[in-house]
Amino acid sequence: MKIVEQIKEPIGYEMELFEQKFRLSMSSKVALLNRITHYIVNRKGKQMRPMFVFLTAKMLNNGEVGDRTYRGASVIELIHTATLVHDDVVDDSNRRRGFFSINALWKNKIAVLIGDFLLSKGLLLSIDNNDFDLLKIISVAVREMSEGELLQIEKARKLDITEEVYYEIIRQKTATLIAACCSLGAASVKPESTDVETMRKFGELIGMAFQIKDDLFDYGEEKIGKPTGIDIKEQKMTLPLIYALNNCDKREKKWLINSIKNHNKDKKRVKEVIAFVKEKGGLDYAITKMKTFQKEALEILKNYPESEYKSSLELMVNYVIDRKK
Ligand code: IPE
Ligand code: IPE
Ligand code: MG
Ligand code: MG
Repeated sequence: MKIVEQIKEPIGYEMELFEQKFRLSMSSKVALLNRITHYIVNRKGKQMRPMFVFLTAKMLNNGEVGDRTYRGASVIELIHTATLVHDDVVDDSNRRRGFFSINALWKNKIAVLIGDFLLSKGLLLSIDNNDFDLLKIISVAVREMSEGELLQIEKARKLDITEEVYYEIIRQKTATLIAACCSLGAASVKPESTDVETMRKFGELIGMAFQIKDDLFDYGEEKIGKPTGIDIKEQKMTLPLIYALNNCDKREKKWLINSIKNHNKDKKRVKEVIAFVKEKGGLDYAITKMKTFQKEALEILKNYPESEYKSSLELMVNYVIDRKK
């Protein structure tokens, strides 16, 4: 059995029902909006975030989940989708999930508005059902994601990023939403328990590993459904590059900085930078760090009794770093 099928086995029913609810959650009276949201739901992603929500909730509540858990999962996937639509505008990226991105097909103006629409749909789904505790978890994540993307832009401009700042960026822009999945999963079934915080931490650690993996993809040539090699073009400084910058001599550093600052749209030069980063061991270093976060996440799970849900979560943790897209 494929690893994803194995992970989904104890939440198969929930994921199917989720998908129906998720489709409905995007509906609108405006024809153009419906056309675009159809385009979006027909090109679904890995749906890892709802999987985290259901697995956490079921692990903590003997396999029982209710409407709150379903709504929470939909809100998170709506917000995730909104941020991807906006992110492709910000990163000027024309592919997503193996197809054209929304900005590539409908231009930036429409992509910005679609992102806002999805965000508002998510927030209203919580508000209309009085899920205010879940809404709080989600709103913190939304704020942090925007801050993370802005911090990244600020650092990209100055090209003076440290490893610590990199971790802060990925914690904010990516790990907080996965943290929200796990804490919301817990809060949806056990609102008062300490598991809400424990599982938040678990999600945060796995979210860190998740983004390091995403950043490693950018250095590869595998078909992952979105462009590779665009991080340097967008002057995005990720861990492999940061490591190389910190582990080379003055002359090399000058060349690297100059390449990123003044030749980032030159394909040949970007290829040379990528080769240099690899030669300096930047990828190996990032892989080691990614595994450190993965291990820490697995440690947290050890505190919970064995169950099929816990086994799936463990598989999820490994899938995050072994995935092919
Ligand atoms: C992409 O997330 C955005 C990042 C945080 C790197 P996913 O890789 O989970 O995207 P989909 O939903 O599967 O397309
Ligand atoms: C993650 O960063 C984006 C968000 C968390 C919104 P990236 O810009 O690296 O994500 P991809 O590679 O475009 O999916
Ligand atoms: Mg991007
Ligand atoms: Mg990326």
